[in-house]
Amino acid sequence: MSKKIEVFAPAKINLYLHIVKRRPDGFHELETLMAPISVGDTVTAELTEAPGIVLTCDRPDLAVDPSNLAYRAAALFIEKYGVKEGVKIHLAKRTPIGAGLGGGSSDGAHVLLALRRLTGIAALDAALAELAGQLGSDVPFFIYRRPAVCKGRGEIIEPVAAAAWKRDYAGLLIHPGFGVSTPWAYQTYAQNPQRGEEGARFDFGTLRNDLEPPVFGKYLWLPTAKAWLLGQSEVAGALMSGSGSSVFAILKDGADAESLAVRLRGEFGEGIFACPFRTFAEPF
Ligand code: C5P
Repeated sequence: MSKKIEVFAPAKINLYLHIVKRRPDGFHELETLMAPISVGDTVTAELTEAPGIVLTCDRPDLAVDPSNLAYRAAALFIEKYGVKEGVKIHLAKRTPIGAGLGGGSSDGAHVLLALRRLTGIAALDAALAELAGQLGSDVPFFIYRRPAVCKGRGEIIEPVAAAAWKRDYAGLLIHPGFGVSTPWAYQTYAQNPQRGEEGARFDFGTLRNDLEPPVFGKYLWLPTAKAWLLGQSEVAGALMSGSGSSVFAILKDGADAESLAVRLRGEFGEGIFACPFRTFAEPF
């Protein structure tokens, strides 16, 4: 009975995020290129004879009740597929929270993927992605685990074909230790819609995030950190991810992310989260 699996739940970065328009339902129509990265959480899941959902987490500040997307994902899967058993889930969190990295969304999607494997239910990716869309705009992306252009409110996923994704990129991910509220970022954008500044050009397109102007207007650490990154010789481009508060740098080929991280902490404080990463195109 007690089959247990462990899955890596990668974070994502937005390589561009274009806001097309505000919709009547209050959401914003997007066109965003998201890529999974090598930084992420670990989701452990097992079926239990006793029904019910038990969620635990190694970060005491994160709620483990039905407000957690991992909990809600398990409840949705159990209800949709009539699963008789209960589920025990543990989250080992490494992705900063409220950071624009989709940490909670990835956990939720990976609970769905883990439960599909544990129960042997033959749900197609598209069916899981539909369930995922009920949990949040960013969740369906993580069902496919590869770079994708996401449209609609983010839930319409067009995976980038393997041949079209020319290469992976190495970078440095930084986070100030505070989060930014996603609804607040979109509401503030709506009061004064303007495009984000265009940055460096890559094979996949040009760095740009339309949520930068509203978020940078209030959280001054972010534009300061981005400008500092752009001034470093290792850095090819830099951008805020999602609605912030994380910022990432894409590095020039062969650049040393660790020495850049050391220099960054020297400048901004030892407590700053600074983590080398790679984008990845193939599920692992
Ligand atoms: O779908 P999710 O729960 O992640 O969205 C959180 C909030 O972010 C929404 O309630 C909405 O205010 C805002 N949002 C938006 N447009 C999107 C995605 C999110 O306005 N495409």
